[in-house]
Amino acid sequence: MTDHTPNPDSQRKLIIAIDGPAGAGKSTIASRLARKLGYVNLESGAMYRALALKAIDNDVSFDDEAALLELAQASRIRLEPTMGGNRTLLDGHDVSSRIRERDVTEAASRVSVHLQVRAWMVARQREMGAGGGVVMEGRDIGTKVFPDADLKIFLDADPVVREQRRMEQQKIKGEVAANVAADLRERDRRDRTRAASPLQAAADAVVIDSTKMGEDEVLAQVEELARRKLER
Ligand code: DC
Repeated sequence: MTDHTPNPDSQRKLIIAIDGPAGAGKSTIASRLARKLGYVNLESGAMYRALALKAIDNDVSFDDEAALLELAQASRIRLEPTMGGNRTLLDGHDVSSRIRERDVTEAASRVSVHLQVRAWMVARQREMGAGGGVVMEGRDIGTKVFPDADLKIFLDADPVVREQRRMEQQKIKGEVAANVAADLRERDRRDRTRAASPLQAAADAVVIDSTKMGEDEVLAQVEELARRKLER
């Protein structure tokens, strides 16, 4: 037990926001932290990915904001936490693997630039996290979705290190690693420069640069911050 062990009677359920660019380690840290705290881990990016997949399947242009909003409104996108990780359901179908493929990854970055699409997503994400006991990760959780989150982490890393991490992940999956770096750089550029909710750290976020840190070290730091909040 540490000095920061929460009062077992405490019913307080935090909302924890973890934002940052691709490859910084958000997903791993968010899911491990959620498991440690007994919280639900919600990956907001999976929702943008699910909508992107639906746009691909329905031949809707990634630039057509009105059509994308209509598509979103007609969709049932569910994030289902399971023991083996999160499942993403689109209209009742498990699309967890499909949404990680390269075409969907690229499309998600494009559909997420639209203000009305974002407003729809943010409303759903607020509903999902409202009760607390959640670690939600994405790009705008601390700035837009939960500006009053109990704890905000902005997890960053050097772009070269992020590219290497992504390449390793993709090799493990047996996918072609070529162009990964270029894709990631383009996605970064789009996420950071879009007009609607660009990727940026909230003013009150704790910024962690994981370039030279191992996963366990990052997790320990974030967990400590969460335990301190629980103590209050
Ligand atoms: O985290 P991810 O790689 O699964 O996200 C996929 C895309 O969705 C990413 O390019 C940016 C976008 N996104 C967003 O704009 N806002 C979020 N909260 C989460 C993801």
